[in-house]
Amino acid sequence: MSKITSITGQEILDSRQKPTLAVTVKTDTLAEGYCFVPAGASTGAREALALPLPEALAGLKEIADLLVGQEVSEQDKLDQLMIDADGTENKSRLGGNAMIGASIAIARAAASENNQELFQYLKPLSPQNQTAPPPHLFMNLINGGAHAPYGSAIQEYQVIPQTNDIRQALAIGRQTFAHLETLVAKRFAPSDFTQGDEGGLAINDPDPELPLELLTEAVTDRDRVKFGLDAAANSFYRDGQYQLADQTFTTEQLSRWYQNIFRQYSLFGLEDPFAEEDFTAFANLKKHLFNALIIGDDLTVTKEDRLQQAIEADSINSLIIKPNQIGTLTETINTINLAHTAGIKTIASHRSGETTDTFIADIAYAFGCFGLKAGAPDANFRDQKYKRLLAITTIDGK
Ligand code: PGA
Ligand code: ZN
Repeated sequence: MSKITSITGQEILDSRQKPTLAVTVKTDTLAEGYCFVPAGASTGAREALALPLPEALAGLKEIADLLVGQEVSEQDKLDQLMIDADGTENKSRLGGNAMIGASIAIARAAASENNQELFQYLKPLSPQNQTAPPPHLFMNLINGGAHAPYGSAIQEYQVIPQTNDIRQALAIGRQTFAHLETLVAKRFAPSDFTQGDEGGLAINDPDPELPLELLTEAVTDRDRVKFGLDAAANSFYRDGQYQLADQTFTTEQLSRWYQNIFRQYSLFGLEDPFAEEDFTAFANLKKHLFNALIIGDDLTVTKEDRLQQAIEADSINSLIIKPNQIGTLTETINTINLAHTAGIKTIASHRSGETTDTFIADIAYAFGCFGLKAGAPDANFRDQKYKRLLAITTIDGK
C-alpha cells in the first residue's frame, strides 16, 4: 500500500519551444513518477483539450486536492475520479494536458513502487497481445501540412522497415534518412529545405508525389522498407473539397488519387485520408485497398465511442493511439483493448510538439501495438522514443 502525498506541476518547453507541463507524483513510500506532456498541432476536433499553462496548472492543483491520500496503484479509480470531477466531454475544465500528465505520472509512481519499469507495470493491464512481437517503426522522414513551413499538403511521408528487430529497423531508418538528406541537399537550394516539426525534412515544393519519389531513391533495399502517409486531410479540406497543390478534388477523385499512388509506390499505410467526420469515405477506400492499412487518427481520437463508430461503419483496420488525445491512461487502455478485440491494429504515436518523455514507447511495447510512430530517427526528442524501445526489448530479452 502506498498513498499519494503530492501531485505538482511546472512549466517546461516542448520541441516547438512552447510551454507545456511536467507533472510529478510522490507517495508516502517515497516512490515518484513523472510525465512531460506532449502537444499536437493538427489536432482532431474531438480531442481532449490542452489548456494554456496557467489554467492547466490550476487544473492540476484541483487534481492534487482530489487524489492526495488515494492509493497510487488504483489507476482506474483515480482516472475515473478525474473524469467525474472534470465533468466535460473533452476534458476542457481540468485540462486534457493536466489529466494525462497526472495519469501517466501516477502509473510511473506505481511502477516504481513495485520496482518495475513502466512497460512491465502496464503489461498485465492488457489481456490480449501478451506475446505480440515488438512494434514496427513508423518513421516520418518528410514533413508537410501543418508540420512544415512549406511543401506538400500531405503531412507525413513515413518509412516503415519490415522487421520487428528494433536494432535493424533503426539502422534501416537512419540509413534511409541519411541518404535522403544527401539527396535533398544536392537537389535543392539551402533556403528550400529545413527541419519540419517531427524532425523530418520539409521541402519547398508543393508536389505531393515528390516526397515519394525522393524516398524511393533514398531507400537501398526496397524489399525491406515500406512507405506510409499521414494525409491529415482535415488540413486541406474546405467546403466539401480537398486542395492538393494546384488540384481541387472531390472525395471520390481524392480516393482515386490515393488508389493510384498506392499502386505506383506500393504503399503500406494511409492515415486520415479524408476529413474527420467522413466515416463513409474511409470505408469506401478501405474496400478498394483491402490489403493496405487504413488508419484513423483525427477520425477516432483514441476514443472508444469513435472507434466503435468506425468499427460499425467498417471505416478502418488500424488506429493511432495518442494518450493525450483522450486524456487518461485508463481510457487509452480501453480503446487499445477494444481495437485488439475487433482485430484492429494499433499504432502508438508521439505528438508533433514533443518532450523528452518516452512513455509512448512503453505503451507501444506493453500492449503489443503493431506500430510505434515517433518521427525521424535522428531528431532529438524523436530518437529517444526509438532508443527507449530498443532498451525495453533488451531488458525484456527480445
Ligand atoms: P499532431 O500530428 O501531433 O500535430 O496532431 C500528428 C498526427 O497527425 O499524427
Ligand atoms: Zn495523424
